[in-house]
Amino acid sequence: MALLPILRYPDPRLKKVAAPVLKIDAGIRRLAADMAETMYEAPGIGLAATQVDVHKRLVVIDTSEDKSQLRVFINPVVERCAGSQLGEEGCLSVPGIYDKVERAERVTVRYLDLDGKEQVLEAEGLLAVCIQHEIDHLDGHVFVDHLSQLKQTRIRNKLAKQARVTA
Ligand code: NI
Repeated sequence: MALLPILRYPDPRLKKVAAPVLKIDAGIRRLAADMAETMYEAPGIGLAATQVDVHKRLVVIDTSEDKSQLRVFINPVVERCAGSQLGEEGCLSVPGIYDKVERAERVTVRYLDLDGKEQVLEAEGLLAVCIQHEIDHLDGHVFVDHLSQLKQTRIRNKLAKQARVTA
């Protein structure tokens, strides 16, 4: 396994729309394993392939406290959503920035697992937020896109300053 470099907002590659995974082969299984390792190392609770500059519809999520519930979603599609919740979000591609985003409270997501089997999951709370956040990445969106223009400008300036300091 290997740690993968994570793209930082506002890298334009985060805006690419990911293509469906057509075949679940050894390469896809290795990508999922590397993404899981990268997410745990960061540490984070979700990572989309887009964030490691692979533009395929694959997401890893683990919202458990003890890293015991790794979930891999291939070609995930939200079929139903209900309710709303306002929660603070962060993102491994937008380090150090947290803000409130409104999301559905519950989602039903259909996807393929690593064996190519179709699965349907009903999720709520944090897991539902995470699924929506990661599918956004596959569609070329980061959570700051949900904030006001003023906040987006402030965040870009702050991250540009950080990049200069750490470069
Ligand atoms: Ni993110």
